[in-house]
Amino acid sequence: MAQAPQFWDKVAEKYAKQPIEDEAAYQKKLAITRDYLRPDMDVLEIGCGTGSTAILHAPYVKHIRAIDFSANMVAIAKAKAKAKHIDNVTFEQATIEDLNSPDQSLDAVLGLSILHLLRDKEAAIARVYQMLKPGGIFVTSTVCIGDTMSWFKLIAPIGRFLGIFPFVQVLTAQALADSLIQAGFELDYQWQPSKGKAVFIVAKKPE
Ligand SMILES: C[S@@+](CC[C@H](N)C(=O)[O-])C[C@H]1O[C@@H](n2cnc3c(N)ncnc32)[C@H](O)[C@@H]1O
Repeated sequence: MAQAPQFWDKVAEKYAKQPIEDEAAYQKKLAITRDYLRPDMDVLEIGCGTGSTAILHAPYVKHIRAIDFSANMVAIAKAKAKAKHIDNVTFEQATIEDLNSPDQSLDAVLGLSILHLLRDKEAAIARVYQMLKPGGIFVTSTVCIGDTMSWFKLIAPIGRFLGIFPFVQVLTAQALADSLIQAGFELDYQWQPSKGKAVFIVAKKPE
């Protein structure tokens, strides 16, 4: 079952204005990602939100297709790209569950703060794997609250009922790594700034 986009539509304006929680960690993730990027690359970003990361990576690749199922997030992303004269990013309202890029057509996929929000992350990881070319990379940053706040699953249904949380999977870093490996990926790089912070992984589809 797909997650309703209404939650994200409601919070989009506020999300766009929020400062980055850990600027140093964000900059490090951008720099590591950039080490893998090449000017001839076709990139897909899944759950792109208000487009900030796609816009920052755009000068380093050929094209980024950035999708999000929230119309309001996509509208903000499009306006930001226009204001910055970025014309090699296509922002599109679409769901991860209906991804339709051809198999083996992508050089890189970015999935930042998104895998823990999916009800079926295995299906999304498998689809990403199919769409990547051999040697392609899947760059992920994922909140793994199962490592520090496993009690969250007790309050999550109440938060969702009240509309204050979206659906969140209580993942551990190990379970996430296992899912990527089971899908066929090799973990090329893994970093967690500190306990409780999002786990950053660059996973590679073998050549
Ligand atoms: C926590 S935000 C992360 C946004 C951005 N990647 C970032 O790092 O700031 C999660 C985003 O994923 C989108 N999203 C959640 N589930 C989705 C799905 N099934 N298909 C497409 N977008 C989804 C939401 O609309 C939201 O914009």
